Amino acid sequence: MSTAVIIPAAGLGLRLGGETPKAFREVGGESLLVHAVRGLKAATAADLACFVIAVPAGTEDVVFKELEPYVGAARLRVVAGGAERSDSVRAALELVPMDGIDCILVHDAARSFVPPEVIERVVAAVRSGAPAVVPVIPVTDTIKRVDPGGKVVETPDRSVLVAVQTPQGFEPSLLRRAHAVEVVGVTDDAMLCERLGVAVQTVEGSEEAFKVTRPRDLLLAEWILAERRS
Ligand code: CTP
Ligand code: MG
Repeated sequence: MSTAVIIPAAGLGLRLGGETPKAFREVGGESLLVHAVRGLKAATAADLACFVIAVPAGTEDVVFKELEPYVGAARLRVVAGGAERSDSVRAALELVPMDGIDCILVHDAARSFVPPEVIERVVAAVRSGAPAVVPVIPVTDTIKRVDPGGKVVETPDRSVLVAVQTPQGFEPSLLRRAHAVEVVGVTDDAMLCERLGVAVQTVEGSEEAFKVTRPRDLLLAEWILAERRS
């Protein structure tokens, strides 16, 4: 049995700005998408058999050619993503093989520098029987819930809050069931499983699995890369 990876990479990167979709922005001479794929490949214990990438419509062929040297044509599928992240994941999920896969990872292209041990922890937890697994880190800010007028409603106890990263890992039939229902305002895949009443397990994430979101995140990305290459 092996693992399939879905990489939603079809976002425009509006908060990052620039002319190119975020996944194609380069750090250290390579795109964020290539960095993400390399990071996944480094997780050798995860036994990755298949990569399905959702990209902006019209870029499928270019991306296939770019990733083929890293993944191999037989293991690579590239599909046009949708309007929302969950639409992109759903489009990719349709191309994940039904047979021989005991774990599906969903990993943001924008979390391009996730360390291999995080990926391996997620896969190991799924293989140990957890149907849905997310990597998490503690939150450092105090988080408040506010009403539409901006008034603070409550301050949850920070010690029970975590920030959630990717890759998130799933038992394949659960992920298919979770995505069979269309829900608005979905920000991650585990959330869809929670709605089905499925317990989601957490494993330790990493600060290096941060999501490249705003321009200053590119500086952090460059620094991480320079540290790793030195
Ligand atoms: N994503 C996707 N399809 C979409 C929207 C997002 O595949 N319709 C992907 C992004 O490419 C990214 C991941 O989902 O790898 C996380 O999304 P986010 O960080 O929000 O990226 P963008 O949506 O591109 O950025 P922004 O929200 O700033 O426009
Ligand atoms: Mg977005």
